[in-house]
Amino acid sequence: MPGYISTYTYQPAAGHVPQFAPRDYKHFSVEPVTGAMGAVVTGLDLTTAGDAAIAELEEALTDHLALMIRDQDLAPDQQVAFARRLGSPVPWPHAKPMEGHPEITELIQEPNDKYAFGGTWHSDSCSFERPPKYTMLYCVESPPVGGDTAFSNQYLAWETLDPALRDELEGVKCLNSDEVGYATVATSDEVMGHTTTTIAFDRDHIEEVLHPVARTHPVTGRKALYTNSSFTAAFEGKTQEESLPLLEKLWEHSITQEFTCRLRWKKGSLAIWDNRCCMHYATSDYPGHRRHMRRIVLEGERPV
Ligand code: SIN
Repeated sequence: MPGYISTYTYQPAAGHVPQFAPRDYKHFSVEPVTGAMGAVVTGLDLTTAGDAAIAELEEALTDHLALMIRDQDLAPDQQVAFARRLGSPVPWPHAKPMEGHPEITELIQEPNDKYAFGGTWHSDSCSFERPPKYTMLYCVESPPVGGDTAFSNQYLAWETLDPALRDELEGVKCLNSDEVGYATVATSDEVMGHTTTTIAFDRDHIEEVLHPVARTHPVTGRKALYTNSSFTAAFEGKTQEESLPLLEKLWEHSITQEFTCRLRWKKGSLAIWDNRCCMHYATSDYPGHRRHMRRIVLEGERPV
């Protein structure tokens, strides 16, 4: 025997209980995607849904963290009207909005684009003081295959950390910075070339904010890991260099396979996810094809 050792570890079983026991929904059908999170919703027309259906939809979102609602036909005004039933749509400050629709950002990936906007693990705009609670994407055009959005359940990420590490991180804050999020890579022409029209990032006014490493969800009361390599610069009171060894360990843990799902797009599908308890990643695996989404973010609260 040459004396090699195994360098991998096995992940203990982990699952999100609502995935295995969806509620008995009266207004639509819900099919969970993996044991971690995500569900596909069918049998609902968002232009005619009544208040009871919308209330059920929010329950499904709370339970499954991200929903892919199939078979919609939404004009921009109708998408905004639906968003208003779930909260307050807010303009996203780093891109020029869709003409005539200040709440909508268009995400367009042209066939020759190399990178996808949102193609790193993140929770949306967590460098903002009040990051959006929900993000909503409506698919205008999808590649024939590919371009899935991947998600990771951050309740599971927090709850499966070693208890001693959780104790150590209890009450600790991270500095999340636009400089990490947008100033260096994400707004380069290569990444943003055809996406969202022109960027309005102002390098002289960089937003940065301290948020807890684990935030408590205002509805479920559960804690979720809330740090990612796309925005987090350092732990409070530490340099980036001092912080990176532990941060990188957390980031690697946060995308453990057992916490994830992928949602597949079709033209006319609308996804909504809860940024307070999951991260996402736009997969760039469709060179030579076009993908076009309309995105709306809904105002959130300051993480605690
Ligand atoms: C985003 O990060 O908001 C975009 C995700 C996607 O296009 O799949």
